[in-house]
Amino acid sequence: TGVVRRITCVGAGYVGGPTCAMIANKCPHIAVTVVDMNTAKIEEWNSDKLPIFEPGLEEIVKKCRGTNLFFSSDIPKSIREADLIFISVNTPTKMYGKGKGMAPDLKYVESVARSIAEHAGGPKIVVEKSTVPVKAAESILSILRDAQRTNNTLAFQVLSNPEFLAEGTAMKDLANPDRVLIGGEDSEEGKKAVAALVEVYSSWVPRERIITTNTWSSELSKLVANAFLAQRISSINSVSAICEATGADVSEVAHAVGFDSRIGNKFLNASVGFGGSCFQKDVLSLVYLCESLHLNKVAEYWHGVIEINNWQRRRFADQIIAELFNTVAGKKIAVFGFAFKKNTGDTRESSAIHVCKHLLEEEANIAIYDPKVEEKQMRMELGLTTSDDKVDKLVSVFSDPYEAAKDAHAIVVLTEWDEFKTYDYSRIYESMVHPAALFDGRLLFKRKEMESIGFRFFGIGTAPNHLTKVGFAAPS
Ligand code: NAI
Repeated sequence: TGVVRRITCVGAGYVGGPTCAMIANKCPHIAVTVVDMNTAKIEEWNSDKLPIFEPGLEEIVKKCRGTNLFFSSDIPKSIREADLIFISVNTPTKMYGKGKGMAPDLKYVESVARSIAEHAGGPKIVVEKSTVPVKAAESILSILRDAQRTNNTLAFQVLSNPEFLAEGTAMKDLANPDRVLIGGEDSEEGKKAVAALVEVYSSWVPRERIITTNTWSSELSKLVANAFLAQRISSINSVSAICEATGADVSEVAHAVGFDSRIGNKFLNASVGFGGSCFQKDVLSLVYLCESLHLNKVAEYWHGVIEINNWQRRRFADQIIAELFNTVAGKKIAVFGFAFKKNTGDTRESSAIHVCKHLLEEEANIAIYDPKVEEKQMRMELGLTTSDDKVDKLVSVFSDPYEAAKDAHAIVVLTEWDEFKTYDYSRIYESMVHPAALFDGRLLFKRKEMESIGFRFFGIGTAPNHLTKVGFAAPS
């Protein structure tokens, strides 16, 4: 049996909560405590309404909570009692000082390292689960080692164990991960610590899917994995623009290209652009790392992924405005979906925020419906890029999609919620101002079906024939 009996996780967010629920569920012999400095959040974790929505999460939390899964605000005690401590705090893009808008902000990670140094009271394995730049483990270790100088009962090993779960499928991803990655120091003590964490995961993850590497490889692999995923989206989105101009259909192209086993068919859906708290932040973190290393060509290459994403959002908003006869001022536009993807209530960096911002600049009246996102969350996000006055005046939020679409000039689909496909679009069409347009930013609908109802239809990466531009002629 392994040495880990008590785990504490600092950070009760989208990663800390689900990850620890899964460990508690799969390892009845381990007591798992999740702590957070946000006491309101801890109260929610202990209540009937969890602070985050993930399919399957609630069942597991209800099953394990109070048995071997605990949510607590007593950070010092939980640190003291743990054998192993996960750091799963947020590492958002820095909004000030050096690296502003590019580098990840490590102040939360550092403050946890300092709490651990202060309260450990004995040997600990410290695991960075937050996504961090290469060499962050060294900084954590420097802080911890400094505490050892004055207290020789302390001993620390720092491991890198990045999380690869995707929101919306977090519980599935955690139960059956493609791989678990653990990086550690190449020393006797380092190997022991790696083995202890391997042992935890081995309770449910096949051994061959647990990869161990040196610390830096592990840290870098997380950034690279997200950069590759984001790059695929930007690649297919760049192709969507060619499709719209030529009459090629991006879904057909993706299908044909994805059949190549070297390329694969996953993650090839064209859309209004990626969102979420990770892709942009982690690509920017990689770009910043490259710049710090004077690898400017490499930085430029990856920065293109972000540029295409911003361009795609802008392009989609511009198309809406153009197709609504170049004026949306005072027109009601229904927005279906505000979360950054389906099956989550998370709105961080959602493309919806950016598309709405462009429409609000043109004074459109926006009527939003999302099955999981709360109104105050939408207003908070929109308020970050548009003045609160404007948001108050121009944005309304509906709990019924039919009401949102009533008297609207257009519907704009920004999240791929399955339920959007099930509505009665004939009824919706009848209730709208005509000509009524449908802008499909997620490729949920078939052009022919929507056109036969009467909609003017605009889908990412597909073009009505009259709009296609070039044939054999030289590009102008
Ligand atoms: P989150 O913002 O949902 O949760 C972080 C939590 O840490 C917050 O509740 C915050 O109050 C708490 N916190 C911050 N500083 C603290 C401190 N000093 N002491 C105690 N609590 C503190 O963030 P999320 O989404 O869970 O992400 C955490 C990390 O995991 C990030 O580095 C992220 O890049 C990474 N990650 C996120 C994924 C996701 O899908 N959200 C997937 C994979 C990795």
